[in-house]
Amino acid sequence: MSKPRLEGKVAIITGAASGIGEATARLFAENGALVVIADIQDELGHQVVASIGPHKSSYQHCDVRDEKQVQETMAYALEKYERLDILFSNAGIVGPQDGILDLDMGGFDNTMAVNVRGPAITLKYAARAMVERKIHGSIICTASVAGSIGGAGPHAYTASKHALVGLVRSAAGELGKHGIRVNCISPCGVATPLACAFTNLSPSEVEANSSASSNLKGIVLKPNHLAEAALFLASDESAFVSGLNLNVDGGFTAVNHSSRFYQGC
Ligand SMILES: NC(=O)c1ccc[n+]([C@@H]2O[C@H](COP(=O)([O-])OP(=O)(O)OC[C@H]3O[C@@H](n4cnc5c(N)ncnc54)[C@H](O)[C@@H]3O)[C@@H](O)[C@H]2O)c1
Repeated sequence: MSKPRLEGKVAIITGAASGIGEATARLFAENGALVVIADIQDELGHQVVASIGPHKSSYQHCDVRDEKQVQETMAYALEKYERLDILFSNAGIVGPQDGILDLDMGGFDNTMAVNVRGPAITLKYAARAMVERKIHGSIICTASVAGSIGGAGPHAYTASKHALVGLVRSAAGELGKHGIRVNCISPCGVATPLACAFTNLSPSEVEANSSASSNLKGIVLKPNHLAEAALFLASDESAFVSGLNLNVDGGFTAVNHSSRFYQGC
């Protein structure tokens, strides 16, 4: 039997009480990692730990906007598991949905705080921990198709995810000399609580909408597809991959959907 892909590795996952983060926490643990579930939804976070198993995971309350809480989460992981190999900076919100003429600036700032400041803080302390211990770690952020194109989400969300892709590339540039890789995964619509609340639709309706607008037919995007992409980037199988924005979108950002060329092909 081959060795588990993350055997002996320690991971922190933000936004791991729900959705993509939760699916990734399960998959990382199944693949041998010890996982710190970091989130603001304490009850759900504890439930995830109970279902994965307390010998493989633990929960830490962490609002990623708050530098002190992020620092405490890193210290907790290092104290409990004595190393840090993987950061999956995944927590995110959709934020205000108003048009540019009525943009709610408080909501805009909060979206940037969760979706950009949060990953920046987690990246800062994870990279510090890795550099100090000479660990050739892997840092992965969850961006979005809205990080590559306009019109795939509200303004603040789109701006924040574009900024996040920039942060990933910039940090990959600096951290390469330490052997630390920095990448992001970019989903299109996947039926998590975030997507359901944003669209005001049930999970099956979100999936039906996503499938209808998807370039790739015959398959529905699930949180586990994102978890598999994160596992690839966390594992040694992606040992020379850094600075990548891995779109997990069935080609959505690669093709021009309004092109007449495809019609009738
Ligand atoms: N679901 C989609 O269609 C979709 C598409 C593209 C990108 N994404 C991105 O995927 C990531 C995960 O979202 P999801 O779809 O799994 O949604 P989700 O709501 O199921 O999970 C997001 C988690 O982040 C946590 N969170 C929110 N604010 C936080 C904060 N300040 N500090 C710590 N944790 C916080 C929430 O409590 C929640 O558990 C987000 O970054 C989101 O932008 C989702």
